[in-house]
Amino acid sequence: MHIPKKANSDPPAGRFAILGLMKAVAAFPGKRDIRVIDHPEPRIERSTDVKVRMLDVGVCGTDKEIAHFDYGTPPVGSEYLVIGHESLSEVIEAGPAVKGFDKGDLVVMTVRRPCPHPECMACRVGRQDFCYTGDFTERGIKQHHGYMTEFVVEDAQYLHKAPAGMRDIAVLTEPLTIAEKALTQLFQVQARLPWACPAEPGRVAKGCDHAVVLGAGPVGLLGAMALALHGFEVTVYSRSPEGGEQQDIVKAIGARYVAAETNSVDDLVRQVGSIDVVYEAIGASSVAFDVIRRLGTNGVFIFTGVPGRREPIPVDTDLIMRDMVLKNQLIFGTVNAPPEAFETAIADLAEFRKRWPDAVSKLITKRYPIDGAIPLLQGKAGGIKNVVAVGA
Ligand code: BGC
Ligand code: ZN
Repeated sequence: MHIPKKANSDPPAGRFAILGLMKAVAAFPGKRDIRVIDHPEPRIERSTDVKVRMLDVGVCGTDKEIAHFDYGTPPVGSEYLVIGHESLSEVIEAGPAVKGFDKGDLVVMTVRRPCPHPECMACRVGRQDFCYTGDFTERGIKQHHGYMTEFVVEDAQYLHKAPAGMRDIAVLTEPLTIAEKALTQLFQVQARLPWACPAEPGRVAKGCDHAVVLGAGPVGLLGAMALALHGFEVTVYSRSPEGGEQQDIVKAIGARYVAAETNSVDDLVRQVGSIDVVYEAIGASSVAFDVIRRLGTNGVFIFTGVPGRREPIPVDTDLIMRDMVLKNQLIFGTVNAPPEAFETAIADLAEFRKRWPDAVSKLITKRYPIDGAIPLLQGKAGGIKNVVAVGA
């Protein structure tokens, strides 16, 4: 009889032997229920695995959609999805083949994992943020449990180290990666104007530097900081009322704040001048398309929001199409982020703190224990970025 040898070879990804139970926040779409459950604690199974203890998990609009059962899919065979994709954790154990991570290191994990199809060039080169097939998974979002739990095991290739001094803010890394990926693409696009926007890596030139950020939530404010750091003259156009915390942060980074409540898009244009770049982080397509109408010559409009499906709204398509052609405009959408964006986000966050320490710490409104996570996910807390301090 042939007895297959065990050990030596690694078991397939995603299958972990169970140690015991731990707390996790889980959404049950079938039952429309979300609660803290007991979930199996994973353990290191493959030589390249790292086990971490979760410290902070940020709550974003995507999580709130999952908590309202409008988005998110549990792993195949599970009736629930452990939520959470914006994480900061601490290494507690590493497999024998893991290099470069030690016990106690702070790490941020990426979100998307590649699809299995050989023909997907994007996933095959580690750029699942550009996956063609749609069969990728996302931790805490799509068919893969997330990070709002006590312990996580993950392959070392999906981990990024954060300096110990960033313990209090490194949970902002993931939302900042959205802006980092957008900026990389923006610089690629702006390089098409070689006289006005010389392709100096990571810095904008005068002539293409009037940027408007739509929205003053965490993605908008982090985007505004990234744009300001890379030399853009930034204006934030937001529905948050004047005189609030958001406006203080915008002012602190040397940007202009224009409240949508009291200023029309035409007022915005009067203050900004020709709009070279729009970084949309408002989600509302009506505001976005209003601003597209006023995009400047050779302008670039970047969409990052995923709006819910509401009633269709009228849009002047002739005008937009005419302008896009006659003004060489470009509109692109961007989702998720590659490993390099995590590295630049960690570096830029450190730089933000050096320049604007108060503004950066104001981004995190409050930390809550895991047992207080449900109201947060249901959108019952105000503020900018709320964080579940799993380790607390
Ligand atoms: C996450 C991305 C993810 C996207 C779509 C966002 O909230 O930050 O990593 O790709 O949602 O699911
Ligand atoms: Zn793919």
